[in-house]
Amino acid sequence: MRIESPAVVARLVESGVELRSGVSLRTLTSLGIGGETDILLLRRYEGLPEAISLLKREGIPYRFLGGGTNVLVVDGELPWVMLQLPSVSSTARIEGNRGYVDAAADLGGTVTFCAKNNLGGMEGLIGVPGSIGGALRMNAGAYGTQIGTYVRAVELYCGASGRIETLRGEDIRFDYRHTSFAPDDVMLRVELELPSKPYKEIVAGIKVCNEKRRTSQPLNQKSAGCIFKNPPGASAGRMIDELKLKGHRRGGAMVSDRHANFFVNADAASSDDMLGLIEEVRERVRESFGMDLENEVIVWNN
Ligand code: EPU
Repeated sequence: MRIESPAVVARLVESGVELRSGVSLRTLTSLGIGGETDILLLRRYEGLPEAISLLKREGIPYRFLGGGTNVLVVDGELPWVMLQLPSVSSTARIEGNRGYVDAAADLGGTVTFCAKNNLGGMEGLIGVPGSIGGALRMNAGAYGTQIGTYVRAVELYCGASGRIETLRGEDIRFDYRHTSFAPDDVMLRVELELPSKPYKEIVAGIKVCNEKRRTSQPLNQKSAGCIFKNPPGASAGRMIDELKLKGHRRGGAMVSDRHANFFVNADAASSDDMLGLIEEVRERVRESFGMDLENEVIVWNN
């Protein structure tokens, strides 16, 4: 979708938006799949309520993109514009055991920044790609760590009120890859409380997680991490592996030959290739194990 009205463009610019016209989502997602649309980069958080209310008044559908590491976007001209916070180098600051971090910050970079300040706990999250905002929304987790454990407050644009608000950690539910944030809430900043730990000890933990990840996941291929959530008491990756589906392809999309719950864009995959592969594997698992796998990846196909 393209914003063509010069008046609307001018008002968006006034509220701190930088408009990038006709950008391919292939360049903004870790899967390297997705169609084209206008990207609205929010240079000032404070301008977000104004920008969103303008889009609503003008009837322009929008979605919010974080780091683009856990989404599968359909091909073609997209029927919505995409809002995004520009990536920040490091605006994080530490006070005692608390870290204050922007949603656009890189998750891994934040783990390292906190480590340098002798604050640990998040070692397991080191190799999880994506932004702090995306990690909060999905309650990103790995190797026994979930970000929600450390959240004390979140500043967000609240979709229901149209205002920037602060939620206390205890008022947010963080479950396995699921949170109580509303779909139209936009994460802006987080306050984390982390346990004190010597830097060397944190680095040792980080090294162990990096090594586990390097040996079990296809880190140098285009993917969105795990495609399916693990059903309670079961492992999606193990089931798909037992079905001998590693390396199975549909067009340019392939079940990773390293970790069966990672589907990779092996060769210019289309969104149909990837969506088809997901449905095929879901069906095979249903037939053989009687389990309905739920997507972990977020699909934007309408
Ligand atoms: N397994 C296989 N074959 C495979 C993959 C896994 O037999 O191809 C077996 C493993 O041997 C192991 C079990 O399945 O016994 C679990 O595998 P793994 O330790 O790799 O963890 P996972 O449950 O597949 C989860 C998260 C990952 C996270 C890892 C490490 C989900 C859906 N996935 O994977 O998160 O990195 O644990 O903690 O919860 C993601 O969220 O995108 C993601 C990759």
